[in-house]
Amino acid sequence: MALDSKNIVDLNLKNDKKILNFSDFQKQSIKFDINKLQEAYNQIVKTKKFDDGGGIPHFGAICLTRIPGDPESVKGHKARGVYWTKPDKSGKEVARDVHINESAYSEFIPDYENTYFKEVFDVLSSKYKLGRVRILLKEPRSTLSWHRDPEPRLHIPIITNPGCLMVIDNVAKHMPADGSVWITNNTKYHNAFNGGEENRIHLVACVLDYKFN
Ligand SMILES: [Fe+2]
Repeated sequence: MALDSKNIVDLNLKNDKKILNFSDFQKQSIKFDINKLQEAYNQIVKTKKFDDGGGIPHFGAICLTRIPGDPESVKGHKARGVYWTKPDKSGKEVARDVHINESAYSEFIPDYENTYFKEVFDVLSSKYKLGRVRILLKEPRSTLSWHRDPEPRLHIPIITNPGCLMVIDNVAKHMPADGSVWITNNTKYHNAFNGGEENRIHLVACVLDYKFN
């Protein structure tokens, strides 16, 4: 049977704009115990509340590291930190929030030393130069702004659902909660949303020595 050329779509697969490239989501070779991660999270939220980053809707963070001896270094705007966004039709980029001296966040907060997060922190900090390490909440039906950050981020999904995606540039990816560790290129414009009906919880660390090509 002859093919009707009208029905053939030229996908032009050599054109890289039409091929999804996931190189901004890099799965690492280490893996943690997802049950222990979830248990540690449940242990912490029994007594700690998420910081709202200075009154930001749908933002929630619990910092696991701080500037040594400085409890103020994990509160309000310091739980969020500087980023750049394009808020309106002009497409002009503006800076938001406060600069963070990431490398100063070297102390694992003693309150969490008896949780599995301490073991996770020790392993991660032996492999990467870390800045702040936070537990980040994304509530159902919520999104971040379209923004870029000063440095890449390490993600360990703890609780997620299929409607949780991170979008970097024009590529979207779901990171499953199976103990895997990802480093994402947050120096490009990105967003994350939770289209499910329960909270999404990730451990997120700023990574100061990781280069994307
Ligand atoms: Fe970000």
